[in-house]
Amino acid sequence: MYNLARQLLFKLSPETAHELTIDLLGTGGRLSLNGLLCRKPASLPVRVMGLDFPNPVGLAAGLDKNGDAIDGLAQLGFGFIEIGTVTPRPQPGNPRPRLFRLPEAEAIINRMGFNNQGVDHLLARVQAARYSGVLGINIGKNFDTPVERAVDDYLICLDKVYPHASYVTVNVSSPNTPGLRSLQFGDSLRQLLEALRQRQEELAGRHGRRVPLAIKIAPDMSDEETVQVARALLDTGMDAVIATNTTLGREGVEGLAHAGEAGGLSGAPVREKSTHTVRVLAGELGGRLPIIAVGGITEGRHAAEKIAAGASLVQIYTGFIYKGPALIREAVEAIAAAQAGRPAGAH
Ligand code: FNR
Repeated sequence: MYNLARQLLFKLSPETAHELTIDLLGTGGRLSLNGLLCRKPASLPVRVMGLDFPNPVGLAAGLDKNGDAIDGLAQLGFGFIEIGTVTPRPQPGNPRPRLFRLPEAEAIINRMGFNNQGVDHLLARVQAARYSGVLGINIGKNFDTPVERAVDDYLICLDKVYPHASYVTVNVSSPNTPGLRSLQFGDSLRQLLEALRQRQEELAGRHGRRVPLAIKIAPDMSDEETVQVARALLDTGMDAVIATNTTLGREGVEGLAHAGEAGGLSGAPVREKSTHTVRVLAGELGGRLPIIAVGGITEGRHAAEKIAAGASLVQIYTGFIYKGPALIREAVEAIAAAQAGRPAGAH
């Protein structure tokens, strides 16, 4: 079924296909039709960050930036949904074209640049949704906010999304907002995390609920830098880390059409780099902070590999574009099989 849809969608420009998919998923969601598109994954409950997940396979940020298709996506069987990245004010993102398929490599390059309709629109969409499962809201800064004042933007978003999110992700790893990734290092990182943690405590008091804070990092750091991030997360009392965003590297796509486009590379070519980052984090964190692994899961077994590397949950984006909703069930089954000590597919 998805093969046919994919053939049609891949005839359109990537961004037109994306917009159409969000529209269709949104409409299907309102009519409760999307559950008919695929067999739901079996339940594989897991508790992470104090939250209960029906299964450990979630949707990564960036596919539903504005929260327009929450119900429709949830009906496909994701164990959790992360929407955003959202910024305080609406912004158009980079000029088109800014999204490129590299099908030979099961990869995508994007330089969207946080195109989104702003946090108020996103919250209206969240309030209109019927979904009651785990909802992550991923926050960022506006393009024209100087990076030295980035913390102001994160705090504006945190204040607004806090009462509506199951957890909040602080995105400091998009390669498409100049200077953003500098927030992953040294004093900039610690100052940002301390400010967010302090506000989280205040908001927890005000709303009577503690909403976990996760940070999403890039796969392009050295091991030493990744270890420094892990230490900063422990020192400041963050709740989780999401590893990873897209890569600036081009290993695995050399010579392919669009490989030279600027932006972040996702899908199969980022898999190993991402999993390596998870391993380094897990080594340093020693189970004290959960890891959500994302990057290059295009088959069920890749999800099980991420869990084996130390992750508690996984997310998918590019694999979902290439494989469709069947990948969700495949990933849940592979994780369940690995946990039961049997090969995937054997029941
Ligand atoms: C992304 N990703 C992303 N991440 C994020 O935190 N905020 C965002 O707005 C976006 N936007 C976005 C757009 C597009 C077109 C893509 C392909 C990706 C990154 C995404 O969530 C994920 O971390 C990476 O793509 C790696 O996972 P996959 O795609 O290999 O499964």
